[in-house]
Amino acid sequence: MNDLHIRAADPSDIAAVLGFWQVAAEGTSISDDEQGVARLIARDPEALLLAERDGALLGSVISGFDGWRCHIYRLAVHPGARRQGIAAALLAATEERFVALGGRRADAMVLERNELAHHAWKAAGYGPEEAWRRWTKPLR
Ligand SMILES: CC(C)(COP(=O)(O)OP(=O)(O)OC[C@H]1O[C@@H](n2cnc3c(N)ncnc32)[C@H](O)[C@@H]1OP(=O)(O)O)[C@@H](O)C(=O)NCCC(=O)NCCS
Repeated sequence: MNDLHIRAADPSDIAAVLGFWQVAAEGTSISDDEQGVARLIARDPEALLLAERDGALLGSVISGFDGWRCHIYRLAVHPGARRQGIAAALLAATEERFVALGGRRADAMVLERNELAHHAWKAAGYGPEEAWRRWTKPLR
């Protein structure tokens, strides 16, 4: 794990990140396109964290802090590099960033059927809040 390097993404990473999510992420997000990722990086250059080993992109997480809540999105590890602690390292980096910014509690949306993810979230100390449901409205 010592050779794992975690860094913030920059605009030159966008195409690689979109390709990586196609093989590594759970489903697709409404913002999974060039413009969506560019907007994220422009708004918060530290929000998209990438994990690399020997220059290969092996993991990602979006560490979103808006001054109020700490939201985690797009946690994904390459299928060939799982169970090596990469998600744990990305979550640790994310939490460190939130704490430095004054964040108080981190959250993530986790699909009920995504049992693989449940293991990783639980191992990192996260648990479901049964009282809540996500309410949404498309903006365009
Ligand atoms: C979920 C995911 C990010 C975990 O990544 P990972 O790098 O394999 O996770 P880690 O190696 O850091 O695992 C940390 C701990 O989580 C638990 N864990 C992770 N995967 C597990 C599995 N398949 N079975 C049981 N426990 C598991 C273990 O406790 C593990 O620690 P250990 O290996 O020392 O036992 C990865 O499986 C993934 O990318 N899945 C597809 C995308 C996804 O579902 N993302 C989450 C969206 S909410």
